[in-house]
Amino acid sequence: MSLQKEIERRRTFGIISHPDAGKTTLTEKLLLFGGAIQTAGAVKNNKIRKTATSDFMEIEKQRGISVATSVMGFDYKDYKINILDTPGHKDFAEDTYRTLTAVDSVILVIDSTKGVEEQTRKLMEVCRMRHTPVIIFINKLDREGIDPFILLEEVESELSIHTRPLSWPIGMGNEFQGVYDLLNRQLRMFSPNKTSIADEVSMIHELNSKVLTEEIGNDAAAKLREDVELIEGVYECFDESLYREGYLAPVFFGSAINNFGVQELLETFIRISPSPKARETEKREIKPDENSFSGFVFKIHANIDPNHRNRIAFCRVVSGRFERNKFYTHTRLGKKVRFSGPTSFMAGDKSVIEEAFPGDVVGLYDTGTFKIGDTLTEGEDIFFQGIPSFSPEMFRQVVNRTPEKTKQLEKGIRQLTDEGIAQLFVKQPGNIKVIGTVGELQFDVIKFRLLHEYGASCDFQPMNYYKACWITSDDNKALAAFISARGHHIAYDKSERPVFMAESEWMLKTTRQAYPDIEFHFTSEF
Ligand code: G4P
Repeated sequence: MSLQKEIERRRTFGIISHPDAGKTTLTEKLLLFGGAIQTAGAVKNNKIRKTATSDFMEIEKQRGISVATSVMGFDYKDYKINILDTPGHKDFAEDTYRTLTAVDSVILVIDSTKGVEEQTRKLMEVCRMRHTPVIIFINKLDREGIDPFILLEEVESELSIHTRPLSWPIGMGNEFQGVYDLLNRQLRMFSPNKTSIADEVSMIHELNSKVLTEEIGNDAAAKLREDVELIEGVYECFDESLYREGYLAPVFFGSAINNFGVQELLETFIRISPSPKARETEKREIKPDENSFSGFVFKIHANIDPNHRNRIAFCRVVSGRFERNKFYTHTRLGKKVRFSGPTSFMAGDKSVIEEAFPGDVVGLYDTGTFKIGDTLTEGEDIFFQGIPSFSPEMFRQVVNRTPEKTKQLEKGIRQLTDEGIAQLFVKQPGNIKVIGTVGELQFDVIKFRLLHEYGASCDFQPMNYYKACWITSDDNKALAAFISARGHHIAYDKSERPVFMAESEWMLKTTRQAYPDIEFHFTSEF
């Protein structure tokens, strides 16, 4: 198959949601459709369980298992689908944000009984920043939930994205009868069933037809006619190009656990979602159909079990054809590297692959040469953009407990932060090391790994910061003056970029007002 054909048939996406909305269930149903798994439960068993929130060793053990489900690739019809798993556990949010830099689109799952929740907001912020196309799946219609019109209004106002329903529910909870497919003008009748994988469909071209009334009853038919009239009056026709630009999200309703609405979602998804696109480097845009291979590392998984100490770097192919055993250039180090056992992943199975194409994710065994964002090419000296760090939410100062192991501690902290577990900021005077994370768990992981892998012992002292903002200015003098005036609150990230450590939202606001020439950014790429 030609490179062009391989690119066109690929769909690489992530499923995102607030925990418990049904992401794992939906993923599993999609895999069932693709024939990639035979029984439900295969993915579910790999999920990081909610009960294990405070026991990081337990979570790590489960993470070890779930590494195999980090990417789930399968064929469906003529398409090659790659689902990139995003950890639901909030302490791994940074992992999720980075995974979103490697997808071409997302499916957002919302629980119809809960509406928009905290994680949904944060994840959508990342999607908006990147103009990622989003399809929304409103789940759990088999339960009594929020009125669909009110829910869509909430989605639009809270997530700042326009929506367009492509299906519409008929009742909900005990009264849930199915959905009306607004694109194909079909009625899909619901029957609670966790095993069947095809919906029962009736063609109803005319909403006024008697068949509709016979199928769903007088009252429901009247309500549906009224709803559809309202939808068609309020919403414009669905515009695929607005979806691809990330401005408009088509919405589907269903019940993942009952396999309802999933096939319809998948069919529309493969038809409208984008195939791998060009990506920016600091020098030029790289198109997927260029002959030379290029790719970037967006995730590093380290196994902390001492019996299985290894790291896997996840590389998203951007252009050309990746081949096993070929020499590639690691552009940050200017070094040639070769991979004899690159792997692909499939719901629990890893297998060595000979080649991969744009949109695919390859697992590369790593002995510590990779850091998040690293680029591989066939020789061209470029660096992919758009894998930003996000401002952490918790900050702690590293206190060295074994002064004779200072070197090991420094090395350990550099390497662990290269893996993306946490971010490192250094404050002067005194070379104070501040670790920033999005969750409590990361501090335990760092402490444990520093001791077991580097023999260095440390403690963490809480620091009262609210956000770390990268600062820039068009006026170099103004920036230097700001850094000098507010030196107490300035730290430097690992690339020596200045960061303003704000203690509160109020402090950030007043500082912004006092220094209008300075720009404050919540992510490291602006
Ligand atoms: P997550 O990955 O987003 O965290 O969610 P997950 O799929 O694990 O689903 C969370 C809970 O919601 C699960 O119940 C799951 O069975 C249930 N669920 C998913 N889809 C539907 C749906 O369409 N309708 C209803 N009523 N429930 C749904 P649980 O009790 O936490 O787990 P389990 O014991 O059922 O596995």
